Amino acid sequence: LIVDQYKTPDHQTILVAQSTTAGMDSAIDDWSEIILDIFKPDAFIARGDSSIRTLEGVKPFKKIFKGHEGKLQSEGALIEYDVLYAADFLNGQKTGFFLDQRENRKHLKDHARGKRVLDLCCYSGGWGLAALKGGANHVTFVDQSADALNLVHRGLKLNGFSTDAPTVNLIEADIFEYLEKSRDYFDIVVSDPPAFVKSKKNLPQAIKAYQKLNSLALKRINPEGGLLYTCSCSYHLSEEEFLKIVANSVRWHGNAGKVILSSGQGLDHPWIINRPESRYLKCACIQI
Ligand SMILES: C[S@@+](CC[C@H](N)C(=O)[O-])C[C@H]1O[C@@H](n2cnc3c(N)ncnc32)[C@H](O)[C@@H]1O
Repeated sequence: LIVDQYKTPDHQTILVAQSTTAGMDSAIDDWSEIILDIFKPDAFIARGDSSIRTLEGVKPFKKIFKGHEGKLQSEGALIEYDVLYAADFLNGQKTGFFLDQRENRKHLKDHARGKRVLDLCCYSGGWGLAALKGGANHVTFVDQSADALNLVHRGLKLNGFSTDAPTVNLIEADIFEYLEKSRDYFDIVVSDPPAFVKSKKNLPQAIKAYQKLNSLALKRINPEGGLLYTCSCSYHLSEEEFLKIVANSVRWHGNAGKVILSSGQGLDHPWIINRPESRYLKCACIQI
């Protein structure tokens, strides 16, 4: 059971739960009551719509225990540090936002002043909006989902940022196709793709995909240098393997790279000592 707690710009608390197993579904009456009792949120949704549930054949569900549909969906918003994000808590990916990258996005925000940034697989603009708040001159947002880019558009407006060129560019595209065609250069490139490794048996294919993505992303960094924030949220890829992929990509590109951040999921996403794969998120910032 995952429970994410969000603060809204008007100081309300929204809890979104994702039940991932049949066992948790069967105890929903108990945990929903406990959660409401302990946290006393202004809104609370329980969702069971992650793809992992198909392994057990459990049906998807969504239940609003507290709150108004409009505020949770089309007008949903949250605040992280001082950045506002649009969120669809009812239908959005995961629980409506990717909280696990919070500390890593803060790192980017602190390095973004005056920079041109490329946010690959941007979803609701987690990284790019933080960069703009940190003083970035420009952000190009790329995602294959039109819904994601609508969230970015709403997020830009929430923060009072321009929604047009030259400040931003919103591109609906497959990142590989975009990167093969693009001739633009950036000071900072962020690569935060979905998990390429869904099971151990497709690890070799996934390693190739990460290698290709990192190599293409490096080509978009200014020839004079810049920063690459590169991530993997694949449970089955270890940090050591991931860093090896990044190191190879940097070497093939003929560059020198210095690691200035090597991190994972935020501290409120603890991992289980006997299940190293539960430390799923890897994030490195390489200074090229
Ligand atoms: C892990 S989420 C990104 C989270 C986001 N960076 C953030 O900080 O909130 C992955 C995103 O990649 C997008 N995506 C998946 N495959 C893609 C592809 N081949 N090309 C472009 N976007 C893709 C999904 O639509 C999703 O929004």
